[in-house]
Amino acid sequence: MRERFRVVGGAHLVGQATVVGAKNSALKLMAVALLAVGRTTLTNVPAIADVMIMAELLRRLGVGVDYDPEAGVVVLDVPERIGHRADYELVRALRASISVLGPLVARVGEADVAVPGGDAIGSRGLDLHAAGLEALGAEVHVTHGYLVATAPQGLQGADIRLDFPSVGATENVLTAAVLARGTTTIDNVAREPEIVDIAEMLQSMGARVEGAGTSRITVHGVDSLAPTRHAVVPDRIAAGTWAFAAATTRGQIEVVGGVADHLRAPLGALEQAGCDVTVTERGFCVSALGRRPRAFDVATLPYPGFPTDLQPFALTYNAVADGSAMVTENLFEARFRTVQELARLGADAQIDGHHVMTHGVELLSGAPVESSDIRSGAALVLAGLVADGETLVSGVHHIDRGYPRFEEALRALGADVTREPEDEPPFA
Ligand code: EPU
Repeated sequence: MRERFRVVGGAHLVGQATVVGAKNSALKLMAVALLAVGRTTLTNVPAIADVMIMAELLRRLGVGVDYDPEAGVVVLDVPERIGHRADYELVRALRASISVLGPLVARVGEADVAVPGGDAIGSRGLDLHAAGLEALGAEVHVTHGYLVATAPQGLQGADIRLDFPSVGATENVLTAAVLARGTTTIDNVAREPEIVDIAEMLQSMGARVEGAGTSRITVHGVDSLAPTRHAVVPDRIAAGTWAFAAATTRGQIEVVGGVADHLRAPLGALEQAGCDVTVTERGFCVSALGRRPRAFDVATLPYPGFPTDLQPFALTYNAVADGSAMVTENLFEARFRTVQELARLGADAQIDGHHVMTHGVELLSGAPVESSDIRSGAALVLAGLVADGETLVSGVHHIDRGYPRFEEALRALGADVTREPEDEPPFA
């Protein structure tokens, strides 16, 4: 059943919001567990739909998966013999499924992973994943919609340079290299905290990995890895969402579990725009109580630059902030679907190529809008909170993929947001 959020505008969100482990780390760490026979335990795992899909994918590879969403714990029991195929049915539901590619080639010498189709935020190729594995000695080709990588004689360390610091390609090359013979250097890698998280988990399994968090990772291959227990790094995008929620609604939110150091670019920009940002004992706090902060220019970049995943929130913020500003999207070519929906809410926003120019208005005007992905959906809910009257945000299943019980967290901060069944479309 499709659901929507009914959002009543007008609240200044005040209170605390708690973030748990990052979606974009937890899913990859589940795939990393494939590298070791035995029971690996992950803690601080978010209670989101994507974890269920990844659990199902791993089950089909022969892994025993026990997921307790309330406790935030996933136990993965990896047998000696595992499968090597990730079906289209699951990959299309969860693009992060591609992260089984590296571990499977390394462990089994073969991986058949369905090629994810283009999604709502751009075409998102796999060429860098393929080139990296080829450099390690795998044969890679695409056939009948599957990316097939084989390395029957095992992988061999190599010096690799990624043409672009892709998060997914960095992960797949890293997780393949840990069991390769000899030393691998990977240059121009992604530096996201989620990459550091994977490297730390690999180290605790016995892998020899250096340099995660910098632009060059060095891996000395080992023969085998051991299962481990690992806590997922806090979700910086969820934490950033709460920071923007405070700034956009002119409220004050303490983000418990948030790591300010992982959000230097967005928190620095909010501070310069007139918000108070303070590091607290349990996380950080953003306040815009009693004032209207200024709009600011944003250009998305790989970490530590401004994250593309927070771009829809920057747009929503600028739509009601004081002044005009430009948002530039440098990572995904089609990530501006939020703009047309914000325009329905009365935002003054124009797209020009990969830029969006906004002129802030005092208040948006409630209307029905449609989520197109996790982040745009959550950003539209925040837009509804600074709109006059009611905003109906449909496509809540997108939001559920990234934000555990979003509406409950918002209500705890004083927002009037309810989940309800979506009406059947009249022309279905
Ligand atoms: N790219 C290529 N070829 C490749 C790989 C990437 O051209 O082989 C391009 C993509 O088309 C894109 C850019 O490089 O234009 C960045 O892609 P990247 O590989 O860095 O992203 P990803 O691994 O597919 C992850 C997150 C995204 C997040 C991006 C960027 C996961 C599951 N997804 O995607 O998160 O936007 O990094 O930070 O980790 C989200 O959580 O809402 C989300 C979309």
